[in-house]
Amino acid sequence: MNSVLPGQSQRVLSGMRPTGRLHLGHYHGVLKNWVELQNQYECFFFVADWHALTTHYDDPQVIEDSVWDMVVDWLAAGVDPQNATLFIQSRIMEHAELHLLLSMITPLGWLERVPSYKDQQARLHNKDLGTYGFLGYPLLQSADILIYRAGLVPVGDDQVAHVELTREVARRFNHLFGREPGYEDKAREAVKKMGKKAGKLYEQLRTSFLQKGDQEALEKARALLQGQKNVSLGDKERLFGYLEGGGKIILPEPQALLTTASKMPGLDGQKMSKSYGNTIGLREDPGEIEKKLKTMPTDPARVRRDDAGNPDICPVWPLHEVYSDDKTRKWVRQGCTSAGIGCLECKQPLVEAILVELEPVQRRARDFSKDPMLVKNIVSEGCRRAQEVAEETMEDVRESMGLAYH
Ligand code: TRP
Ligand code: SF4
Repeated sequence: MNSVLPGQSQRVLSGMRPTGRLHLGHYHGVLKNWVELQNQYECFFFVADWHALTTHYDDPQVIEDSVWDMVVDWLAAGVDPQNATLFIQSRIMEHAELHLLLSMITPLGWLERVPSYKDQQARLHNKDLGTYGFLGYPLLQSADILIYRAGLVPVGDDQVAHVELTREVARRFNHLFGREPGYEDKAREAVKKMGKKAGKLYEQLRTSFLQKGDQEALEKARALLQGQKNVSLGDKERLFGYLEGGGKIILPEPQALLTTASKMPGLDGQKMSKSYGNTIGLREDPGEIEKKLKTMPTDPARVRRDDAGNPDICPVWPLHEVYSDDKTRKWVRQGCTSAGIGCLECKQPLVEAILVELEPVQRRARDFSKDPMLVKNIVSEGCRRAQEVAEETMEDVRESMGLAYH
């Protein structure tokens, strides 16, 4: 269970870069998780098209082609627009505005130290990633997260450093701009709005924390504050900060929500990834999928049918670990090591399991792709909702940075 941080909302935000067709790796690693989260939390999921441009600036066609297909794939996987807000980053200009404003206070060293910066530059060495935009990639991500005041950010372990940076940027922002003129007076006024009883309790808990470092009192006060119905958002920010003796918390710090899903193995035993060419696409033709599985490599030492094999060095085995029950796995190990079954036979249950899994996904994908207007309307509605939230945050941000004079 994630502990609740100051002013932290239970809002979930995540994004995906539109850089090609989605495959089973996305389905198992990300989408199934989103589908679960949407039933537990308020969720915002978006197409990170500006992020895609930071690395694919020389190939914008791929981005353009992938945006709508990606949304269709999300919907096909079961992401439900009734339960989650789906939108496109570049439609919400406020992301760019917040990115710019955050850039004023973000030390270059913080960005240069993010591990993905040097890693990706080394990995994509044939592309010039010495750009301003690429260096700013994680800060743009911070803006994406902070603008929705998201508390939870489901990401893979390669993205945890970006959430960590987001926390540091938020802390710095609050520290620099959370101390508005007359802050203490405003905070005391806000306490009154909680009502006599709750206000008194808040003061007591605050004193316990500030004077004795009582962590439990801090937790209690936060919970009390979270539940206040008559206190405006701005006052809540003040009171969360006041609690700890600091300023107003304008941008709450998010937490990474690590996906427990195991990595989906590809057709060669490595992690499934477009760059390894070992994928099964979500919308690939079932006949093609069957062919791919039937021709995928097996234990190289098992040349003839009557050679015994070793599942531990066979790329087919990790797929059984994802798709097969104990009984089937036992049958595989037993049959393989005794040459009792052939490799095609061994693969058959996988072919079936994967096609059964993809059948409803492909059916929904067909339905949605037949109705592009429906998909566009879903995204338009999502953009409208996202923008409302983003705009509300930006009003606070502009005001705190002295930009509310126009
Ligand atoms: N950087 C993420 C990735 O490559 C995509 C992303 C952009 C994102 N903005 C985000 C993820 C905000 C979570 C939250 O996968
Ligand atoms: Fe691999 Fe199965 Fe063939 Fe054994 S029987 S080598 S596990 S495909």
